Amino acid sequence: MKIFLDTARIDEVKQWVDTGLVDGITTNPSHLSTQGDQPTQIIAQLSQLLPNKPISVQVTEHEPEAVYKQAHAIARLGPSIVVKIPCKREYYSIIGRLVEEGVLVNVTLVFTLEQSLFMCKLGAHYISPFIGRWDDLDVDGSQILYRIRAMIDTYHYNTQLLAASLRHMRHLHAAIAARVDIVTLPVTLLEQATGHLLTDAGDKKFTQDWQKLSGAIFP
Ligand code: E4P
Repeated sequence: MKIFLDTARIDEVKQWVDTGLVDGITTNPSHLSTQGDQPTQIIAQLSQLLPNKPISVQVTEHEPEAVYKQAHAIARLGPSIVVKIPCKREYYSIIGRLVEEGVLVNVTLVFTLEQSLFMCKLGAHYISPFIGRWDDLDVDGSQILYRIRAMIDTYHYNTQLLAASLRHMRHLHAAIAARVDIVTLPVTLLEQATGHLLTDAGDKKFTQDWQKLSGAIFP
């Protein structure tokens, strides 16, 4: 399973890139809007930090032909740029065209099994079901992941299942259990998942015990 960071913050990516855990990045207009007036430069910096790793960048246009043109312009930003397109019916034909033209497409804002099936049929490289936003509506969003996994496996689609909008550990556990291909995590969640009180307490106890051997040379 791959792990992407869900952020446009350079400092966050720098902080995590050396761990060897980060396989890619997903940005979105909300993330980029917090990082100043030069989104193209931010994408270039992210690409430098993670060369050859997929970086998803979302279209911001709305009219279908403008979305199509912008998608190509975004794809030209680099060889590992993936274009994120919202899962709206008016973009279906564009998604199909872009896929045929070799653009890597991450269909975002996916909420249902049916939307997932349609995007698999169109050949999307990734589909991003949003789990947390279902939970915001008091619906258990993670259940959709199991159904999408089964659908992709049943029909042998090549689309990768990218669990998005994960907000807490329960979401991450469900995504792993549902055998998703990728999770995209906010840094706060990765921080939580990579630490454990019992690991820290155990490490402290081993250190204290070892110090009782004052002077031992080992190995
Ligand atoms: C994923 O591609 C999205 O950027 C992200 O996961 C959205 O998460 P949110 O619903 O917490 O904003």
